[in-house]
Order: sequence, then C-alpha cells, then structure tokens
Amino acid sequence: MARASGKVILCGEHAVVYGCPAIAIGIDRGVQARAQRSAQPELRFGDVVVHDPDTLRAYHALLERLNAPCTATQVALEMPHGVGLGASAAVAVAIARAVSELEDSAPASERDARLLEAANAWETVFHQNPSGVDTACALAGGVIRFRRSQGFERLPLGTGFELAIAVAGPPMPTRQMVESVARIRERARERFQRDLDAITALVDNAALCLGAGDLAGLGQLLDYNHMLLSSWLVSTSEIEDAIRLARAQGALGAKLTGAGGGGCVIALPGEAGASAILEAWASAGYRCFSTHVPASP
Ligand code: PMV
Repeated sequence: MARASGKVILCGEHAVVYGCPAIAIGIDRGVQARAQRSAQPELRFGDVVVHDPDTLRAYHALLERLNAPCTATQVALEMPHGVGLGASAAVAVAIARAVSELEDSAPASERDARLLEAANAWETVFHQNPSGVDTACALAGGVIRFRRSQGFERLPLGTGFELAIAVAGPPMPTRQMVESVARIRERARERFQRDLDAITALVDNAALCLGAGDLAGLGQLLDYNHMLLSSWLVSTSEIEDAIRLARAQGALGAKLTGAGGGGCVIALPGEAGASAILEAWASAGYRCFSTHVPASP
C-alpha cells in the first residue's frame, strides 16, 4: 500500500506560478493507493470504478510516464477532496508510488524524479500549468520550500506547532483562480511585480521564522501574505469571516491557503491554542480540523 499526504500552502500560493518561492506543509491526512498488473488499465476510488473522462485521461498520462499502461489501481481518500488541500496531487503521487513499487528498482533520487514527472502529468490534465508545489509536497511530506526553477528543499523547524484549518466555502477550480490572477497581472504588470517581490521577501522571512521557532513573526507574515492575496481578489466573504473568527481567538496569523475563491483557511494558534479557534469555527458552521507540524529532529 502506497501513501501520499495532502498539503496546505503556508505562504506563496499564486506567486509560485510566476517563479516565486512558496512554503508548503504536508498534513496528517492523505491518500492511499494499491496497484496491480491487469489486462486493462482501471482506476477505482474505493469500490467505484472511475469513468470521468478527465480523471481517466490523467490516469493514462501518469501510467504512460511510468511505462506501466496495464495497471489497475484502487485509491482510498483519508481527506476532503476539492477544497485546496492538495487531494488531487496526493492521489497522483500515491498512485505513482503504488505503480512504481510494482517494478521500480531505481535509486531513490531517480525514482522520486520519475514519480514527480508522472504526478505532474496527472495534474496538468486538471490545472494546465501547475507550479508543481502540490505534487512536491505530496511526495516529500514535512515542510518544504518550493520554487519552480529549483524544485523543493526541506526546511528545518526550530519548534513544532499546530495549524488550524477550516473549509470556508465551496472552492472554485484552481485553473479558474489562476486565470483570474493572470488577468489582474495583465492589467497592472508593474504593481503585480512589486507584489511578487514582496511575497518573495515574506516567504524567505517565513523560512527564517520557522527555523528560529519565531511563531509570532511567522503569524505577521501570514497576515501580510493574506492582504496581498486579497488584493488579487482571491478571497471571499466566508474566508474573511473565518479569518476574523480565528484572530478573535488569538490567532498569531491567518490566511487563505491554496487557490482561494472558497476552499480553506489556515490559522496559526496563539496562547489560547488551536482548540479555541476550532470551537469558534465549528460554532459558525465551518468544517475544521488541526494538523500537527513537528519540530525538526
Ligand atoms: O489547487 P490548490 O488550491 O492547492 O492551489 C494550488 C496553488 C496555486 O499556487 C494557486 C496554483 C499552483 O499551481 O501552484
């Protein structure tokens, strides 16, 4: 049985599409997949055979990259799907792992590169031009800094922490949100470039805060990142409401995560802890949970 984790983007989403760095964190929840050779390719989610044409196209693209056209795979989701937690990338990486376990004896570094390429072929069917941060995080787990031109590196963490996560409304397709940000960029390129520079600086500082265990500093950077994302019109009234509730419960910082237009909010708990934020969200009707991010060993 192969596994891959879901993710939240701590900071840098959207800007990462334009070559800026982003930090992503693997969450406790993920996807499992089991593969076996078969006469025909087949994909099941639980016991249900997939007939959706896009998903099958993605599956065939992935199998082709791994030179394994005749494979039957069964997938089990342990996480919500379609809310910006990277379920699609986790499915892709879990399937690629399960398929490659059937025959791959390549060294780990080569195998990881092949898995990423196969998983990105899957993602491209849905997102056209994915930055690759979701698949990198699904593959690596833990906390990574990702840049399109450089791939990912693991970030050291000076302290562990909880992250509270709420589903703040039905999400918009990632592709649509990425296109809408591209239109904003077209209208005001210079201003957009200044925003990208600011996000690059704040992501680099967030990596320093993580290393130093400076959660108060990290929280401020998350707030700043959210402000810049809002100016690209990817926030919604539900996202703003969830963020307001988290801050009222002492969150050190809170922001949307992923493509926006709905989907998830993350909050870095303060002294009152994650439970205060989760209770406030649950009372307001938001589906929510927390994930533990451990300190580096
Ligand atoms: O699909 P989501 O909600 O995890 O968003 C992906 C992150 C974006 O930066 C918006 C797009 C990308 O390809 O990196």
